[in-house]
Amino acid sequence: MRKIAIAMAKGGVGKTTTAINLAYGLASRGYRVLLVDCDTQDQAAKFLGATPQYGLYEFVTERGKNGEYVSKNETIFLCRPNLWLLAGGIQLVELKNWLGEQPRDVRQTLLGKELVPKKGSLDYLIFDCAPGWDVLSVNILMAANEVLCPVALQGPSLEGLKTFFRYLQSAQALNSDLRLKYILPTMFDQRTRQSHEILAQLRKYFHRQLCEPIHFNVRLSEAPVHGQTIFEYEPQASGAQDYDKLIRRVMNDGGR
Ligand SMILES: Nc1ncnc2c1ncn2[C@@H]1O[C@H](COP(=O)(O)OP(=O)(O)OP(=O)(O)O)[C@@H](O)[C@H]1O
Ligand SMILES: [Mg+2]
Repeated sequence: MRKIAIAMAKGGVGKTTTAINLAYGLASRGYRVLLVDCDTQDQAAKFLGATPQYGLYEFVTERGKNGEYVSKNETIFLCRPNLWLLAGGIQLVELKNWLGEQPRDVRQTLLGKELVPKKGSLDYLIFDCAPGWDVLSVNILMAANEVLCPVALQGPSLEGLKTFFRYLQSAQALNSDLRLKYILPTMFDQRTRQSHEILAQLRKYFHRQLCEPIHFNVRLSEAPVHGQTIFEYEPQASGAQDYDKLIRRVMNDGGR
């Protein structure tokens, strides 16, 4: 099973867009995928038009809002054929508090220990990370072994990347299996010089990890409003073609 964290400390760079479209694309090709939303904003469920009752908080604690017992199975929501979701949400604030209270030597690895699927039951575990950096982000990077880092080709994104790399290095010091596998340029606007300049910098420093850019595409921002992936909302859109290339690249990097 491959465990891929879609992570970047900077907000609004396309992490959730990438997570749901990658997860859906892999699932629709027959891979069994569990998408884990690690963000209090609960965006992954919204982007997929799903309304799960429970999510990651209940999965880890096995407790519902009123203290009732919730089994782990009940917390995993089938969104599409082959695509399951562990939703995020505001309860993750409590999960972070709880993690913060655990003994120092175990607090960073608790999530990874909980997320051990039955052998052969899943092909991909995809984490949609929150912006920023906290105890939950560390847990995710302890549980994952590949990082896909979306970088917006606009604004001060290289600064954000530098900050994120410092975090990533501190995580790699604790998890030697963790690799920066993909740098995904997003919001590529052909008409702006800035987009080309940032892309040239990325090409220079991350030739191996660099994926083909995801263009700025209004359809990509409309699809979540309808609770759909780009492949369901408008499969002919440039955003669908761009994400299709990413899915093929990810698939080609690993067997089943
Ligand atoms: N390539 C794109 N073209 C146009 N709009 C996009 C593109 N990618 C994402 N968007 C839109 O930009 C906004 C931010 O994207 P998204 O929520 O995926 O970012 P994020 O990194 O997950 O944000 P956060 O850090 O808040 O979790 C959303 O409204 C999304 O629909
Ligand atoms: Mg997000």
